[in-house]
Amino acid sequence: MITKLGVNIDHIATIRQAREALEPDPVAAAFIAETAGAHGITIHLRSDRRHIKDRDLVMLRETVKTRLNVEMATTKEMISVVREARPDTVTLVPERPEELTTEGGLNVIKYHDEISRAIEVFQGDGINVSLFVDPDEKQVEKSMEIGALMIELNTAAYAEAVPSGLDEADPEFVRQLNEIRRITSLASHGGLRVLAGHGLTYRNVYPISSIPQMEELNIGHNIIARAALVGLGPAVQEMLKAMNP
Ligand code: PXP
Repeated sequence: MITKLGVNIDHIATIRQAREALEPDPVAAAFIAETAGAHGITIHLRSDRRHIKDRDLVMLRETVKTRLNVEMATTKEMISVVREARPDTVTLVPERPEELTTEGGLNVIKYHDEISRAIEVFQGDGINVSLFVDPDEKQVEKSMEIGALMIELNTAAYAEAVPSGLDEADPEFVRQLNEIRRITSLASHGGLRVLAGHGLTYRNVYPISSIPQMEELNIGHNIIARAALVGLGPAVQEMLKAMNP
């Protein structure tokens, strides 16, 4: 069984918003990612709408042909906006307004009431719900207890163990990887579908994608960063042609 890839296109919108321009359009990016073989498209509709906008959500719902996954905070406003858009999946994440990116997994133990209510609402609408959690046994057990069917394990600590490359002998890397393996197996035996993401790169992805029960990875920043570089040559050539046809 291959491990699927969900491409997070938030940072296409980040580049657009840097100039409040029309381009690059996340809708075009989703089409290209799908054509290249992505199994799903992920966006994070943040409460401050700093990158992905409501218009993107609506248009992506119309145009994505694989699966649309929306990461969101469990707030009243977000539940109402996202229910109306009817994505295939929602991933519940914690959100702090000033954060650069999602800083950790959900505290399912502390906020089990609001999280289980959101699961009920979305699953009642036929929308799958995934909980973004740290690879922590107690959080995973609580996720099962409140009726989650799917979790996304936070790989940030794993990625941060060897930030500049892959050193398979690094003791912290080994510890983080073994913990993700153990929690994946535990969750899968408990009947949960297991995904993972955050901080994954071309260098550190394989030890995670090769975990047997790992169904799908959500990857964003590193793919968009690479696209900016490997696409730069053709983009300069196209501009020269536009100037001097
Ligand atoms: N999964 C979740 C829940 C996230 O919040 C993010 C970041 O938006 C990702 C995966 C993707 O992380 P990265 O951009 O580091 O690949």
